[in-house]
Amino acid sequence: MTVETVAWTGLLPGKVRLVDQTRLPLACVYVETDDVAVLCDAIRRLVVRGAPAIGVAAAYGVVLAVQAHADAPGVDVVGRAKEACAFLASSRPTAVNLFWALERMARRAERELLARRSGAEIVSALHAEARAIHAEDAAACRRMGELGAAFLKDGATVLTHCNSGALATGGMGTALAPIYVAKERGLSVRVFADETRPLLQGARLTAWELANAGIDVTLITDGMAARVFGEGKIDAVFVGADRIARNGDVCNKIGTYGVAILAREHGVPFYVVAPVSTFDAKIAHGGAIPIEERAAEEVTQGFGARTAPPGVRVYNPAFDVTPARLVTAIVTEAGVITAPDEQKVVELLARAHPPSRS
Ligand code: MRU
Repeated sequence: MTVETVAWTGLLPGKVRLVDQTRLPLACVYVETDDVAVLCDAIRRLVVRGAPAIGVAAAYGVVLAVQAHADAPGVDVVGRAKEACAFLASSRPTAVNLFWALERMARRAERELLARRSGAEIVSALHAEARAIHAEDAAACRRMGELGAAFLKDGATVLTHCNSGALATGGMGTALAPIYVAKERGLSVRVFADETRPLLQGARLTAWELANAGIDVTLITDGMAARVFGEGKIDAVFVGADRIARNGDVCNKIGTYGVAILAREHGVPFYVVAPVSTFDAKIAHGGAIPIEERAAEEVTQGFGARTAPPGVRVYNPAFDVTPARLVTAIVTEAGVITAPDEQKVVELLARAHPPSRS
């Protein structure tokens, strides 16, 4: 891996360092901050983006909020941690990994309080929790890569949408991890990357990340995908997810649903690769997932150039929902579920028992 998307630098007090993904692919620069407000804004502006990476960054953000003067008289570290969780939770609404990580941080703070720890000890525990979230995500990515690579044959061509690689996680990625593992195993895999309108995560991030990793990548605009499927060029689709409902409906970057329909129409398997932390068992079906709507300017003048008349009405949902019936399999670090449905999702989550659900 060539970039470390999210990192904690120093000991305590320390800083969070992020690859500024708004600057890619023109420049690979890092931003460093010890200010939770700056971090929250970075999540909102997509300096750091991708469901698992947002969760990791937010967990470190809680540490930023509490690390100063933890043992000073009158300082309520747990109260400050909870305030920071509420603040960071307001950054983006759809990726459930954000809320999963923040709930885990808040629970850890509560546990430390019950154990009558000092302020400094609570800060230290929160730092350890954030690091654990990060390390577990990296391990989950590797495991998903190993399990997902089983669906890739030598010479296969994969289509992917948005960016679900190292830039979207604390490790080697979700949907791109099987491709990296296949390469490690000596297989040759080609990738078609959808440009991913309007913010071009496919063009700016996936094409950059895969080319840097020595993967054969071809960029297409979103509207070209049907043509490429029709030409018989795609053997499998691999995408990530921002939230998966209890019935297996998958919410991911806008445009994913269209790709799933194309895959079904052309008899191509559609794989979703996501960690257990991306499932939201409280949400019965995809229709109940909150979908972020972003600014009209992202559509009318993305990256500076005006491409629509001033004042035109714009609808800009950032995510869509692919019904479970279009999903061939969901690959997680806890195993693969084929033809997902509520029973299989509930069984998987019961088996997985991530620390957050204990
Ligand atoms: O708006 P973004 O760039 O945060 O959206 C990211 C995606 O939709 C990814 O496909 C998803 O988070 C899966 S990433 C491992």
